[in-house]
Amino acid sequence: MRALIVYESMFGNTAVVAEAIADGLRPSCEVELCPIADAVNRPPPQVDLLIVGGPTHAFGLSRLATRQDAAHRTQTSIETEIGIREWLDAALPIPTPRRAAAFGTKVARPPWLPGSAAKGIGKRLRALGYQLAAAPADFHVTAMTGPLAPGERDRATAWATQLATTHPDLPKTAQ
Ligand SMILES: Cc1cc2nc3c(=O)[nH]c(=O)nc-3n(C[C@H](O)[C@H](O)[C@H](O)COP(=O)(O)O)c2cc1C
Repeated sequence: MRALIVYESMFGNTAVVAEAIADGLRPSCEVELCPIADAVNRPPPQVDLLIVGGPTHAFGLSRLATRQDAAHRTQTSIETEIGIREWLDAALPIPTPRRAAAFGTKVARPPWLPGSAAKGIGKRLRALGYQLAAAPADFHVTAMTGPLAPGERDRATAWATQLATTHPDLPKTAQ
């Protein structure tokens, strides 16, 4: 069973969630983590489970302008030319149903703030022909640049473990 996690991250929080998800999958899967900058240079993923995640920007998936805005808020050099939105919008529909899952990060407060990158990713994955193995999951940061809210890293690992154990092609792991 092979899983690929493709993620976008401006300040590193979605990357931490991606790593936590990889930890949750590893007992059951061969897992590869792939930042978006690398995903664009590889052929379409031929894996059993594709997991895609990104930060919520302006109530949805990032765009060039929001990534450029984020780039001004950090000293770290970050990819702004391409994000998950552009990568998925350029992807070819898949011929047979394959499994996928979507995750994202967003600020914890105010809790009623609408919009979710995870939901936008889930919608695009379904449109490409993927079957969602779980409902899109949001993980919270305490402020725009992070860090992750307490417990969110563990929640991401638990979400991934659940994802792996409910996958029909995977053996059940210990509960
Ligand atoms: C330009 C911009 C717009 C944002 N808009 C939203 C938003 O609409 N809703 C929200 O919950 N968080 C918003 N955020 C906060 C991001 O979700 C947060 O920076 C992100 O989850 C951190 O993940 P990262 O470290 O992987 O980039 C925004 C951040 C930036 C930079």
